[in-house]
Amino acid sequence: MMTNTKQVLITGASSGIGQQLAIDYAREGWSVLGCGQNQERLQALADTSDKITAISFDITNYGDVNQKLGGLTNAPDLIILNAGTCEYIEHGQIDVALFRRVYDVNIFGMLNCIEALQSSFNENTHLVIIGSTASYIPLPRAEAYGSSKAAVAYIAHTLAIDLASKGVTVSLVSPGFVKTPLTDKNDFAMPMIVTPEFASEKIRAGIAAGKKEIHFPTRFSFILKCISLLPIRMQLAAVKRMTGRTA
Ligand SMILES: NC(=O)c1ccc[n+]([C@@H]2O[C@H](COP(=O)([O-])OP(=O)(O)OC[C@H]3O[C@@H](n4cnc5c(N)ncnc54)[C@H](OP(=O)(O)O)[C@@H]3O)[C@@H](O)[C@H]2O)c1
Repeated sequence: MMTNTKQVLITGASSGIGQQLAIDYAREGWSVLGCGQNQERLQALADTSDKITAISFDITNYGDVNQKLGGLTNAPDLIILNAGTCEYIEHGQIDVALFRRVYDVNIFGMLNCIEALQSSFNENTHLVIIGSTASYIPLPRAEAYGSSKAAVAYIAHTLAIDLASKGVTVSLVSPGFVKTPLTDKNDFAMPMIVTPEFASEKIRAGIAAGKKEIHFPTRFSFILKCISLLPIRMQLAAVKRMTGRTA
């Protein structure tokens, strides 16, 4: 029997923003494919609704991603590539292993998912990629995380051009601080931090409106965007003042 239920695939659904999106889309009546690594948290998520199916894999594992996502029976209408990680460098010291860990998840993990899913893309597909406002301006200790999200933003915007002929919509989401296990580790002030519920509402509203760029909280993202338009000398001075860095 044919069904009109729309399907959303969400990576990083076992925690934080992705988990909230999975819960909220299921409440709206979507069929949800919730992806993550942690089996226990994924199962707990699937137990909240019969609309949610858990799929467990490591997005950095090319073969595993292809096996789990390459053979989906139905092409998802909405794909939200949200899985991500954050690590900060210490004392201005470049640590290549740290960069590799962050890039492996945030860039290559996301690309693994796109490659595995792209043969199913059609004029009804909406591809949503989660970046970060951290990519707007240089932020202390964010050399790896910020640059990974700058790459993610560039890929999302270029894919929006290159997939337009297939009718695929591509959107970039750039959140400010959201209270999740990812930010619970931070030992610095997080201005205008919002809840996962707020983030989910903004993301879902932006997707429903077909926005190419979704960013929030808007006062925070607007300030960072304005700073990004300044000459770099002034950007650096503004960031030092904002973050209390004097050096
Ligand atoms: N929180 C913020 O303030 C903030 C701000 C801007 C952007 N973002 C972005 O928003 C996204 C979600 O972040 P969050 O704050 O919700 O973080 P989170 O609570 O730590 O959740 C991260 C999710 O990514 C999954 N993940 C990480 N590595 C993975 C891997 N190798 N394979 C499969 N799944 C993996 C995790 O799955 P497991 O736990 O099962 O491993 C988890 O479900 C990230 O892309 C992050 O960069 C967050």
